[in-house]
Amino acid sequence: MTMTATGTAIAVRGIEKSYKDLPVLRGVDFDVEAGSIFALLGANGAGKTTLVRILSTLLRPDAGTATVDGHEVTAEARQVRESISLTGQFAAVDEILSGRENLVLVARLRHQDAPEAVADALLNRFRLTEAGGRKVGTYSGGMRRRLDIAMSLIGDPPVIFLDEPTTGLDPEARIDVWEVVKGLAAQGTTVLLTTQYLEEAEQLADRIAILRDGRIIANGTLADLKGLLPPAKVEYVEKQPTLEEIFLALTTRPTTDHSEEQS
Ligand SMILES: Nc1ncnc2c1ncn2[C@@H]1O[C@H](COP(=O)(O)OP(=O)(O)O)[C@@H](O)[C@H]1O
Ligand SMILES: [Mg+2]
Repeated sequence: MTMTATGTAIAVRGIEKSYKDLPVLRGVDFDVEAGSIFALLGANGAGKTTLVRILSTLLRPDAGTATVDGHEVTAEARQVRESISLTGQFAAVDEILSGRENLVLVARLRHQDAPEAVADALLNRFRLTEAGGRKVGTYSGGMRRRLDIAMSLIGDPPVIFLDEPTTGLDPEARIDVWEVVKGLAAQGTTVLLTTQYLEEAEQLADRIAILRDGRIIANGTLADLKGLLPPAKVEYVEKQPTLEEIFLALTTRPTTDHSEEQS
């Protein structure tokens, strides 16, 4: 079953995962609406990659269920894999090949009818046409990340996972990747991205969930999350808290579950 741009693209229920004695996910619940951008925000080590690996069938949860594009991640792993892409999965972007050759290679592997045309369309879409003939070894970090995302889109997966898509990029390249992500959602792709950058979640996401101590401690629109904190009164002027202030307030005080709250 392929979801169109309405309905639930990802449903996560009670997901738990420990590494030996280290509990990382202790019961994670959330939904992602089809065609939306969902940001999973959490500090380093919060369990973001663990959750993305579970949702992309690379890792089995200890408990709980998750469906992606209507398929359960453990019972229907093959169907899930056909519905998703995960950036970074082609860590073996071939440095010796050109960007175009990399794209043609993946298009062939994914049985596309016209691999060369697929490659050219993606180069154009990701503003890599000029660089397309150059070896990837000569690309900047932002160009590589765009190529990586372009490669992951071959075959038009309805759901895409981006695990820290802009970590390590300079501000200009980060904005480039943001534009790419916005474009994906605009054409109906569901995007789940993880980030440590509050500004990234603020810029991109329709909904933001904060992962802390193995659970989602807040989940809502930016406006919902802002509603969790009373506006700080400064003289007679009301000041709205920034996402950074909300994040710090939620992650530095004892855990309380705000995930059910609505503003
Ligand atoms: N394969 C593994 N074996 C043991 N511990 C792991 C493994 N992978 C991750 N961890 C630990 O699990 C926790 C969550 O890791 P991770 O999901 O990578 O977090 P994040 O992506 O949010 O930084 C961290 O404490 C990390 O050290
Ligand atoms: Mg990670």
